[in-house]
Amino acid sequence: MAEKVLFKNVEDPKQYLIETSLKKGGYESLKKALGMIPDEIIDEVKAAGIRGRGGAGFPTGLKWSFIPKFSDQPKYVCCNADEGEPGTFKDRVIIENDPHLLLEGICIAGYAIGAKAGYIYIRGEFAFGAKRLEKAIEEAYKKGLLGKNVFGKGFDFDIYVHRGAGAYICGEETALIDSIEGKRGMPRIKPPFPALAGLYDGPTIVNNVETLSAIPFIVRKGGKAFGSIGPEKSPGTKIFNVSGHVEKPGSYELPMGTPLREIIYEHAGGIKDGKKLKAVIPGGASTPVLTPDEIDVNMDFDSVAAIGSMMGSGAIIVMDESTCIVKSVLRLAKFFAHESCGKCSPCREGCTWMVDIIKDIEEGKGKEGDIDFLLSVSDGIFGNTFCPLGDGASMMVTGAINKFRDEFEYHIKNKKCLSAS
Ligand SMILES: Cc1cc2nc3c(=O)[nH]c(=O)nc-3n(C[C@H](O)[C@H](O)[C@H](O)COP(=O)(O)O)c2cc1C
Ligand code: SF4
Repeated sequence: MAEKVLFKNVEDPKQYLIETSLKKGGYESLKKALGMIPDEIIDEVKAAGIRGRGGAGFPTGLKWSFIPKFSDQPKYVCCNADEGEPGTFKDRVIIENDPHLLLEGICIAGYAIGAKAGYIYIRGEFAFGAKRLEKAIEEAYKKGLLGKNVFGKGFDFDIYVHRGAGAYICGEETALIDSIEGKRGMPRIKPPFPALAGLYDGPTIVNNVETLSAIPFIVRKGGKAFGSIGPEKSPGTKIFNVSGHVEKPGSYELPMGTPLREIIYEHAGGIKDGKKLKAVIPGGASTPVLTPDEIDVNMDFDSVAAIGSMMGSGAIIVMDESTCIVKSVLRLAKFFAHESCGKCSPCREGCTWMVDIIKDIEEGKGKEGDIDFLLSVSDGIFGNTFCPLGDGASMMVTGAINKFRDEFEYHIKNKKCLSAS
């Protein structure tokens, strides 16, 4: 098993305290980074090959290099701690148990891009996590690890915690920026991308908690050490969240590329009560469902994409033989319809239509032709929306019909469910 990058200290109940963190080498990477030229740090992050852990897998070093060197506007680091994707609960583990690891990563990112301030946008429901972060920030200021002249190296940096108010769309990076600015959180048109005009119109990087928390390791051990873990094109370790019908649901830090079968049957203890596996959502609610014969896939961005789904945020939702796929799809479709921000009509109208059709099918009121109609509504959403939320809803529905069409047909024909529950 590869060395832990993120969860090395999360089991220590005192790790959230700065004294414990410092004893275990906390902030030493920041000290090292402040002795480096900012571009050297960006080069290390590029050498690490780390791809964003928020879901899209964009190369982090490349993202940082888009920030203009000279700008009249202040630059910012935004840490995306919205963690709203159903099935995802990885960032929370770091925030609550090792908040200084995250703060250190944000500070290094700030120094590398020339920012003087960082914002942590945290999901509103994470009240405990927000409290932990605020306490950690207070401790770091007291130790001179935040604020003016950090480590006496002439680097000034402040971090603010901004709590969200419960909207999934505020995890989308430009909606997140609008929300911090006090506006209604809705995606902005791109370009301009945040790297050129982001928070308060300044050059901004938005990165996920897990991405930023890996930065201290990369600075301490070098990009190559991180890049040597897992597959060449998706290196590093990854936190996989396993939920649903497994014996040991939880968060597991494993090398990227670990087979899905191993994650479910070894780390998560297999299917609950010895039942049979029916379906797996591999990377959060927006990612197309997989069938049991597809679980030998390696969990990395490219391998999961090659079989027509996505690794997304690494949120693995396991469903056993008793699961009604139609009911599950209805539940998720309701989520997307509820969370659609309403800015563009294919998503705003389409998600609601999809709920209406699936609801009819689930309740035994479905008619012949409904499945094709549902597919056509889903097709009308895909690729025609302002942000990827609509695409996510569409991929989820179309993916489930492609794999489990017989269940939808059974519901329509027999006015009842094929599965036991
Ligand atoms: C609807 C929607 C919700 C999102 N929610 C999150 C989230 O909760 N956390 C996150 O890190 N990224 C989320 N993203 C992705 C962000 O827009 C962005 O790509 C990410 O924060 C970039 O960080 P990374 O490069 O470190 O992955 C979401 C995207 C969409 C479209
Ligand atoms: S796709 Fe949906 S969530 Fe995204 S901007 Fe359009 S209406 Fe809003």
